[in-house]
Amino acid sequence: MSFLADKKNEHETACESAIRAGDGAQAIFHAAKAAEFCFALAQQTTGPVSASYVSTAEGWLEIAEKLRRKPLPPLTSATSATSSPTSPSSTPSSSTDDDEFLVADDTGVSFDDIDGMANAKAAIYDMVINPMLQPEKAKALNIKPGGGVLLYGPPGNGKTMFGKAIAHEIKAPFFFASGAQIRSKWHGESEQKLSRLIHAAQEKPVAVLFLDEIDGLLPRRTAESSAVDNRLVTQFLADVGGFKDSPNTLLILGATNKPWEIDEAVFRTGRFDEKIYIEVPDAEARLGMLRRAFKGVALEDGLSLDAWAGKLDLYSGSDVVGLAKKACQIAFRRSIDTDTAPVVRDSDLDQARHVIPSSITTSMLKQFEEFNQKRFG
Ligand SMILES: Nc1ncnc2c1ncn2[C@@H]1O[C@H](COP(=O)(O)OP(=O)(O)O)[C@@H](O)[C@H]1O
Ligand SMILES: [Mg+2]
Repeated sequence: MSFLADKKNEHETACESAIRAGDGAQAIFHAAKAAEFCFALAQQTTGPVSASYVSTAEGWLEIAEKLRRKPLPPLTSATSATSSPTSPSSTPSSSTDDDEFLVADDTGVSFDDIDGMANAKAAIYDMVINPMLQPEKAKALNIKPGGGVLLYGPPGNGKTMFGKAIAHEIKAPFFFASGAQIRSKWHGESEQKLSRLIHAAQEKPVAVLFLDEIDGLLPRRTAESSAVDNRLVTQFLADVGGFKDSPNTLLILGATNKPWEIDEAVFRTGRFDEKIYIEVPDAEARLGMLRRAFKGVALEDGLSLDAWAGKLDLYSGSDVVGLAKKACQIAFRRSIDTDTAPVVRDSDLDQARHVIPSSITTSMLKQFEEFNQKRFG
């Protein structure tokens, strides 16, 4: 029994290593062997334990098949969703069963809507936009648009927004799924659904595939990792490994607030060639957000958005937008209560600041700095 379990684990690990090393034949061999030992374990056990070994075995067989590049089963929801695009304002996190992954034909968010992020925008120009605009020059230099990019940084600073804007800029459909959603909602079928999603995006001439909370999807392995965890990582590596040879352009964006929780293999194997740190906005970016939020709004004489932008250190983009909104609500209430003109005052922003404090902490930033040092320093 423990011999069988040891062999199963051995082949599972070997399969993943082979995928990382790009050795398809070995990967297929070990996936098939892992399945074989799972079936053997299923025969020696009974009830739910046995059933779970059977399902694990089937998972490994599927991986073996995938590695042989057998076309995946036809898609259900992703393709049907494409023909009825979701509105730009729809929240991707809605939890009905029929939108297991969200697809939008146009996200309606553009680069101009994003303040700051100059480096991130430049990296995306190099990786996808310019190679698509200048295909001949790119081809002459062996540059192919697309690939994998990891967007990481503290929450609320525009990772998701940036992903949507990229899709809009390159006029590509936006495929979205979050790691937590894949794990919790698709349990048992997580690998197959993830595969179908990747495959659906790969079939489009140009597409953006956004995998939010990718730390939840591809967690770092621990002694307690479940078979499902391991298979998800292995399957993901197998699926995205092939996209580089495709004539289509696929940009895979993985986003995370916790990059240190991601499986090492995801970094090592070149699946995410680019890693972009999405930082907390600086004063200039915060000013841009404030100007946008107060566009067309009457401000009290002497209220300086410049000065406010300077005061909001450690405010995330989402905090800044929330603060402005709160100030408008406070001004609105006063305007009604006192029957005066709807004007935002400095004191409204002061009051709003107490309701909406900054969500970023210095220890959070330190954690990112340490990660950057360790990983890329
Ligand atoms: N750089 C930015 N420029 C403009 N708005 C931003 C920016 N960063 C964050 N925001 C605002 O905060 C909201 C939340 O950002 P989001 O993309 O969900 O952050 P993340 O995915 O990094 O957690 C956005 O919808 C937008 O209103
Ligand atoms: Mg997000």
